Amino acid sequence: MAFRPACALDDLWEGEMKEVEIDGTRVLLVHAARDRVSAFAAMCPHQEFPLANGDLTDGVLTCAAHLWQFDAETGAGLNPVDCALKRFASRCEDGRVLVDLEAAVPSGPAQDRR
Ligand code: FES
Repeated sequence: MAFRPACALDDLWEGEMKEVEIDGTRVLLVHAARDRVSAFAAMCPHQEFPLANGDLTDGVLTCAAHLWQFDAETGAGLNPVDCALKRFASRCEDGRVLVDLEAAVPSGPAQDRR
């Protein structure tokens, strides 16, 4: 595992997302819940549109191109459900967001938002 610094946690407030580049790879960081930041491949799996141009509301990430929706914490597809974001291992440590590009994480089920 090789966690690399992606950004300062202070630069990514809860409810925000941003695209960063790590070793030439475009990564979308999503701070959907308190001090929990998820890292995904930055392009939509549908037609490779930048997900950072989409919307993040109530833990749901919506692609701006054709409105596919994903669970912002796990990357699971919500609409449609048979897709998912490529997710990387991530953690917050000493005020920084760290990402391991070599460690893919299963997208997991969508969070229960009731
Ligand atoms: S490119 Fe994202 S929904 Fe089509």
